[in-house]
Amino acid sequence: MKTRWYKDAVFYQIYPRSFCDSNGDGIGDINGIISKLDYLKDLGITAVWLSPCYSSPNDDNGYDISDYRNIMSDFGTLDDWKLMLAEMHKRDIKLVMDLVVNHSSNEHFWFQESRKSKDNPYRDYYIWRKGTGKNGKKPPNNWTSRFTGSAWEYDSLTEEFYLHLFSKKQPDLNWDNPKVRKEIIDICNYWFDLGVDGFRCDVVTYVAKANGLPNGRYIPFMRGDDQFVLAENWYKYINEIAENSWNKYDSYIVGEGPGVDINNVASVIEEGKNVLDGVINFQVHHSNIVKFKAEKYKKIQSRWQNLPEKCWNTLFLENHDQPRVLPMYAKNLQLREVSAKMIAASYLLLKGTPYIYQGQEIGMTNCKFKKNEFVDIMSLNVLNVVKKFPPLVPFAVKQLNRIGRDSARTPMQWNSADNAGFTTGKPWMMVNPNYTEINVENNLNQKHSVLEFYKKLIAIKKKYNTIIKDGVYSEQFSSVKRVFCYCQTLNGKSLYVLCNFSDKVTTLPLPDISFTTSKLLITNYDMSNQFLKNTMKQEFSMKTKYIRM
Ligand code: GLC
Ligand code: CA
Repeated sequence: MKTRWYKDAVFYQIYPRSFCDSNGDGIGDINGIISKLDYLKDLGITAVWLSPCYSSPNDDNGYDISDYRNIMSDFGTLDDWKLMLAEMHKRDIKLVMDLVVNHSSNEHFWFQESRKSKDNPYRDYYIWRKGTGKNGKKPPNNWTSRFTGSAWEYDSLTEEFYLHLFSKKQPDLNWDNPKVRKEIIDICNYWFDLGVDGFRCDVVTYVAKANGLPNGRYIPFMRGDDQFVLAENWYKYINEIAENSWNKYDSYIVGEGPGVDINNVASVIEEGKNVLDGVINFQVHHSNIVKFKAEKYKKIQSRWQNLPEKCWNTLFLENHDQPRVLPMYAKNLQLREVSAKMIAASYLLLKGTPYIYQGQEIGMTNCKFKKNEFVDIMSLNVLNVVKKFPPLVPFAVKQLNRIGRDSARTPMQWNSADNAGFTTGKPWMMVNPNYTEINVENNLNQKHSVLEFYKKLIAIKKKYNTIIKDGVYSEQFSSVKRVFCYCQTLNGKSLYVLCNFSDKVTTLPLPDISFTTSKLLITNYDMSNQFLKNTMKQEFSMKTKYIRM
């Protein structure tokens, strides 16, 4: 039976490789996570989404799994993991694991068998097809890999191609094969029986492919998308997994949902339909990646507050695949701290399950990588393609710095000691040089820090979640440029959040708030500052708020 605990949860995403290294090998690990659980508890979060920690050859940092029932040796052992789970539960923190079953690693036993011969019992665990063209050396269709190039790789051993929507070392599993679905059910149940509280399902919208694998429409860099996003059989397959595993436990199943929009979201998450409980959609992110536009941000956030009946929202701004949003959303980085706080308020008190990505709570920013400093497979693939056209390299480097995946993965900045206190050894990837200034310890020692703001905001979210969850959402002042003001109302009580995305003071008339009966819960400016206090008081009494949030 599902209690739907996730409707009151505040999530924290851990990217284990970059979180905390306990043994000096330069790689974050499970004991490192355990050592920071009190920090997380103190922050107020109630659940963790842990990016993959299973055995993996690390072509894509754990998103290529070679053993679904074991822990990556870089991170520790299954016993370490069990201890971590127990320590989380002791602190009332739930654990949601990453479930990466659109594909496995090519080093998984299933694939090793599958490629051996066409009649191997595991052949149909993956998607093999004959090539096209005169000598059969052309890919079976026009689908492209998310990591550049064709989505098909030729294997000379059996003279067929296999499908990989990501890297060559991430062959797609064949969900049309009932045996594969049974394996997935067993894997989920294995972890549930060990005590996990749910799964974040990696690229779950891609798992079923259109019958006959037809060519896709041409969308630049995205050929084939329309043939594998929520393909016809998706619903049937997901129902089967939900019925035989997910729904048997008090679980939370959230899917990474490329291709999900407001029109199809209900089919993917509607309660009672044996589908997912939530979906991480990229609408906010995609519309702001090229250039942040507050008006778009407001529109999309508000749109997703009015989901169809029986649908539950997911709120996030950062994760391990996107650059940090702070430098993109904040007009003026001299206002880094107040901006980081304002950005937090702009989403954390919306209706839905919020996620905070490691480092976001201290206002970490992006890093500038030189050509040979990138480590992510997607960045490396892009550089590999452009190296044939040398004049394009600087452009590619610039773009990767702007939208690549490396920035958000730099090690967590704990203190101002060497390597930001992340490791005593050589970190597996570059540490952002600004760690001497931006780090947890500095935040803890500083009044009105970004971290302190996150703590307070999370506490507010927990205290007023009934209003947020069950209240009526409305956006106010939507025509005031760069101001996002939202309000949740329940039984005559309203919770207002006012955010000013510009770097200028904006004055707003707030006619329907009675200041004798309302209370300022939190502000991103230091209210011990006498000038501000007086100004606020004055403005309050004029029923106009002087807001810089
Ligand atoms: C998801 C993950 C990403 C990974 C990809 C393939 O998008 O978040 O990090 O590379 O799936 O597994
Ligand atoms: Ca380590």
